[in-house]
Amino acid sequence: MCGIVGYLGVKDSIPIIIKGLKRLEYRGYDSAGVAVLDEGQLCTVKQAGKVKDLEAALIESPCSGRIGIAHTRWATHGEPNDVNAHPHVDQTGKIALIHNGIIENYNSLREVLKQQGVSFTSETDTEVLVQLISTIYQQDNLSFTMSVQAALQEVVGAYGIVAICADEPDTIVAARFGSPLVLGIGDGEYYIASDASPIVEYTRNVIYLDEGELVTITFTGYTIRKIAEDNIVTKEITRIDLSVEEIEKGAFPHFMLKEIYDQERTIKDTMRGRLLLSEGSAHLGGIQDYLPRIEKVRRFYITACGTSWHAGLIGKYILEEFANIPVHIEYASEFRYRKTILDGNTVVIAISQSGETADTLAAIRKAREQGALTMGICNVVGSSIARETDCGVYTHAGPEIGVASTKAFTAQVTVLLMLALLLGRRRGLSLDTGVALVNALDSIDQLVRHTLDQANKIKQVAKENQQADNFLYLGRGLNFPIALEGALKCKEISYIHAEGYPAAEMKHGPIALIDEKMPVVVIAPHDRTFDKIISNISEVKARQGRVIAITDKCCPELERISDFIIEVGEMHRIIFPIVATIPLQILAYHLAVYRGCNVDQPRNLAKSVTVE
Ligand code: G6P
Repeated sequence: MCGIVGYLGVKDSIPIIIKGLKRLEYRGYDSAGVAVLDEGQLCTVKQAGKVKDLEAALIESPCSGRIGIAHTRWATHGEPNDVNAHPHVDQTGKIALIHNGIIENYNSLREVLKQQGVSFTSETDTEVLVQLISTIYQQDNLSFTMSVQAALQEVVGAYGIVAICADEPDTIVAARFGSPLVLGIGDGEYYIASDASPIVEYTRNVIYLDEGELVTITFTGYTIRKIAEDNIVTKEITRIDLSVEEIEKGAFPHFMLKEIYDQERTIKDTMRGRLLLSEGSAHLGGIQDYLPRIEKVRRFYITACGTSWHAGLIGKYILEEFANIPVHIEYASEFRYRKTILDGNTVVIAISQSGETADTLAAIRKAREQGALTMGICNVVGSSIARETDCGVYTHAGPEIGVASTKAFTAQVTVLLMLALLLGRRRGLSLDTGVALVNALDSIDQLVRHTLDQANKIKQVAKENQQADNFLYLGRGLNFPIALEGALKCKEISYIHAEGYPAAEMKHGPIALIDEKMPVVVIAPHDRTFDKIISNISEVKARQGRVIAITDKCCPELERISDFIIEVGEMHRIIFPIVATIPLQILAYHLAVYRGCNVDQPRNLAKSVTVE
């Protein structure tokens, strides 16, 4: 979703903030812009389209200055055009603002401002905020910082904002409520961004702003205060553990492909130091202190969005099977607004790659209010969900840049497997079963390698099916969530309509769609439902559907009824969903490439959805 970067220091800000915007491109956006202060003059350049379009505009209208702010916008209020792009400037032309999030009461604020003679040029909620700041600044004789602070007290909604003012040409003011901001502290230079990726090549020293905090940055330092209480807060500087290599794609043509291949290592990274081979269990330090409470609760809720929700669905299956605890799973956007029956006997697990998804964050806040114990499964260290949950487990998959989640998903499922194992062993799961599971997890990298070696074969499947308008994905049991995830990957990046279904449900509807043009991906391991899935495949074949089978090993029955077979190798049935996800990711990737789609930044999608 929208990205923010700002710089104040001794250098010209433009190259730094433009590079920063490129680092933030992965979040998904449809316009971009910059504002700089140069000797008390405000200069703004903004453009619909990509950062390269903004660069071209900057060649036409060059500007420079030691203070600069920049933004990539993902349209919410008003279409993605030049006027609605950020930064927005007030009617005096002195104040520029960039904003992530949504100002919910912008309509009423706009009406009040109109009555005071303010005229608006864009349709955005952000322009309302900059005009409000400006009105307060002019009427109330307050400093720029205090004007921003006063304006934010009138705002309802979510924001991460950064603002500059020509009258105070040595100052950046930034504030957060609901949308993350990170302050980078260099040597006489400061950076502010919506995540650490634009900052990491300049400094590792950062401060994560907390909800309701505002920072004033000048050439002599920074001051952080609470917006509502107006008291100054002292915050610890954190060292970020992120390298530039991790946020670059190296020799791979796309981040998504790199991240698919990363999985040979990242799944192991997720388990590093956590598997207890002889005990047939796992050690998860981030929940250790809470285990006596967790193992006694009556039920779990899992809440998440998108791909993380699919990981959660696998989590439900395995926690119920191994830990013998009832688990409800719910989309965070539903969970947050309906009546939920939670108490101290409930654990609510929030799964989120970014740790910033607005609905998931709201869901755990609600869960805490209702007395439940909250647990986060997040990839981004220090993210809002990680910080606001009582306890949690990091997935340690490294930065995920491709909008379509890949390695974060397999890492989430790996964490859920370790959680099921750990709780299971404390709730009666036998040592033998535990040891078998640990051994399976421990050897997964060889299977991932073997699966990645099938990439050319999968590419061929993509080539032969690239013209399809629809795909169907089928799976049973633990592989049903994988069917959902395969379908999501397909539609996200190749824009082919795709649906995931429990294989047996096909005959209650989707079977009506099957003809010779419909590819049907079937996840078909030799587990206890193998015979059933063979029947489902036969039903597809009888209607001339094109069958793409993902299986552990080839067999005559599958060969007889499948058009394409991808073999991922024999393994413990519990780790099969992790390994079987990989061919589905590769298939979606090549479908998208053959169809000429923007793999890493699919249209209309955002990596981190910080609005509801
Ligand atoms: C967006 C992304 C998805 C992701 C979902 C949830 O829709 O494009 O890839 O699965 O958000 O994000 P989270 O960061 O909470 O896992």
